[in-house]
Amino acid sequence: MAQDVLPVLSEGWDQRMPLSFWSAGCSSGEEPYSMAIMWAEFQRRQGLSGQAAVAATDIDRACLEKARLGVYEWSCLDEMPRDLVDRHFSKEGGKYAVSPEIRKLVRFQRAELLEPSPFRQVDLIFCRNVLIYFNRASQETVFRHFRQSLKPGGFLVLGKVETMTGQAKESFVSFDAKERIYRRSR
Ligand SMILES: C[S@@+](CC[C@H](N)C(=O)[O-])C[C@H]1O[C@@H](n2cnc3c(N)ncnc32)[C@H](O)[C@@H]1O
Repeated sequence: MAQDVLPVLSEGWDQRMPLSFWSAGCSSGEEPYSMAIMWAEFQRRQGLSGQAAVAATDIDRACLEKARLGVYEWSCLDEMPRDLVDRHFSKEGGKYAVSPEIRKLVRFQRAELLEPSPFRQVDLIFCRNVLIYFNRASQETVFRHFRQSLKPGGFLVLGKVETMTGQAKESFVSFDAKERIYRRSR
């Protein structure tokens, strides 16, 4: 995302319009907060003034409650570079709380992926390790919803063992086959 996707998204970007990201099937929040941190780091390095907003959805209310808290054990963070932990978390009673600056970039809400998506004109969707549990017909439904949600040329990132199936292949082109990154065709 930081090396290949964000540079494309920020090229020719009208910074008055916030970039729109969606973590679909966000579980307990690690993914959308990581997206927000990657964005904040990219913005800082590139000296960009424009904003990004991360919508984070899941079907499971208990997961969303934990995600909104934004407090994690060290075991969730131990693969994150130390400087990022120091910049974006504070220690609270032996746990690590996401900083207010990162929190304010992320909005959680309940959404069922098999129902029409509440989002339009999205620049980047992460849907990792979710569709692997769906049958083929349901996967195709979700890909259709993602197509409707994305801008033309918008990015879709799947999990490492997930692939695009059926008719969806006509709506998306592969951007990075190894990393399972696709773009909505025009
Ligand atoms: C294995 S977790 C993946 C979390 C995160 N994307 C990651 O890779 O770390 C799968 C998540 O998908 C959610 N999920 C499953 N079916 C769903 C559906 N039909 N609509 C929305 N979310 C769903 C589950 O509640 C769960 O939190």
